[in-house]
Amino acid sequence: MVLRYDHSPIQSFVAPHEWQAIEAAVSAASDALKSRSGLGAQYTGWLFARRQAQEERTRMMDVVARMRSLCDTVVVIGIGGSYAGIRATLDVLGHAYQSVGRADGARFASVHRASGPDVFFAGYHISSVALTQLLDVLEHRSFGIVVISKSGTTTEPAIAFRILKQRLEQRYGKEGARTRIVVTTDAHTGALRSHAAEAGYDTFVVPADVGGRYSVLTSVGLVPLAIAGIDIEAMQDGASDAMEAYRLSSGMDDPSAQYAAVRNIVHRKGKTIELLATTEPSMWAFGEWWKQLFGESEGKDGKGLFPATVQYTTDLHSMGQYVQDGPRLMLQTVVAFAPHPNALVVPADVDVHDGLDGCVGMTLDEINAQALYGTVIAHADGGVPTTIVHVQERTPYAIGQLVTFFHIACAISGYVVGVNPFDQPGVEAYKRNMLALLGKPGLEAERAYVQEQLRRWGLQ
Ligand code: PA5
Repeated sequence: MVLRYDHSPIQSFVAPHEWQAIEAAVSAASDALKSRSGLGAQYTGWLFARRQAQEERTRMMDVVARMRSLCDTVVVIGIGGSYAGIRATLDVLGHAYQSVGRADGARFASVHRASGPDVFFAGYHISSVALTQLLDVLEHRSFGIVVISKSGTTTEPAIAFRILKQRLEQRYGKEGARTRIVVTTDAHTGALRSHAAEAGYDTFVVPADVGGRYSVLTSVGLVPLAIAGIDIEAMQDGASDAMEAYRLSSGMDDPSAQYAAVRNIVHRKGKTIELLATTEPSMWAFGEWWKQLFGESEGKDGKGLFPATVQYTTDLHSMGQYVQDGPRLMLQTVVAFAPHPNALVVPADVDVHDGLDGCVGMTLDEINAQALYGTVIAHADGGVPTTIVHVQERTPYAIGQLVTFFHIACAISGYVVGVNPFDQPGVEAYKRNMLALLGKPGLEAERAYVQEQLRRWGLQ
């Protein structure tokens, strides 16, 4: 394992009897998950870190090779679980500055180039500004599309796909466009499946027993990540090694169960927010993936820690004050990578008198680690308990393990909370209202209701 979960900094917040009190519930949740007998068990296919059959893998790698040879840029269209894990992986493993501009409306002007085409994202918003900017950049590029939607009916990616497909067909003709479009969706159902069949696109399947936010290690993530040049074999190896280790360890011996226990102990003691703290700018999208995983899995029936993220040291100059001194509502979970062996070193400078000569010769990663530990101690003193996930290397193998650690922990934690961690009934409410307003047939009663609300609020 290249990943270690360390809950020692939480000792002063959690008494031994509190560990003992939660042990039975965590063990039962872990058993229910691993024996596939808990709530939503039909969506635990991800537990097996299954590999594709050889024939399917060969077909996939042929399509990947074609996209890499035809395209200097690939637009990945998707939202939620059909987007977040891909972006997270590419950000952590990619390069932040091999950039042609701020093409996808995201927080950083980063273009992902592991060793293949640039990857841009679309379909995770309904912003005309962001999509227009993407179209501008694509004007001078040879591009292709990977569209991902398990249901095949999600509004945001469906709109982006219409627009980008039209642009592709204008440029290359229908047949040329066909060779540059790859679809990942349900095996049988949904508008995207039937459209792909009619148009003759290459398609891959989102397994029926894997929900969106648990799907990055299926074709959902593997196809675009392989196109970008990520070593997906290594990522899958990391995931299966972690899965094997966690499945073989029972009860509280499993680090992901320990993390689930910590979350639930502090939640029962009144903490309502969990901060995922990272120390690398490239981890921003990973934080977004983690927020979706825990938010959508656990936030049900009035339960669940609110998942939020901070980036250190940046946010020590903005959110640090609140974390240190605001209401004592938080648990903090840090994901920390081991120092890079070739990290930059602080040079000596006889002309500067900033009191930092003690740092001369230290690597930036060493300094970052000291800043983190100083922060963790200050937060503990201020009443914010912290645990740390240490990751030894920034590799596809390690990302496979990290994703698996959080997947298992999230499912166990959801069971301990008493919710089904694999559904998302709360997402439907906004969709129904939006589709009613967009005139979808069959939603006439809902349309009347939302229009009336908007009139009363003076919004329409
Ligand atoms: O985790 C989930 O199930 C969701 O976040 C979905 O991934 C998201 O809503 C996108 O759905 P789809 O892939 O059907 O377009």
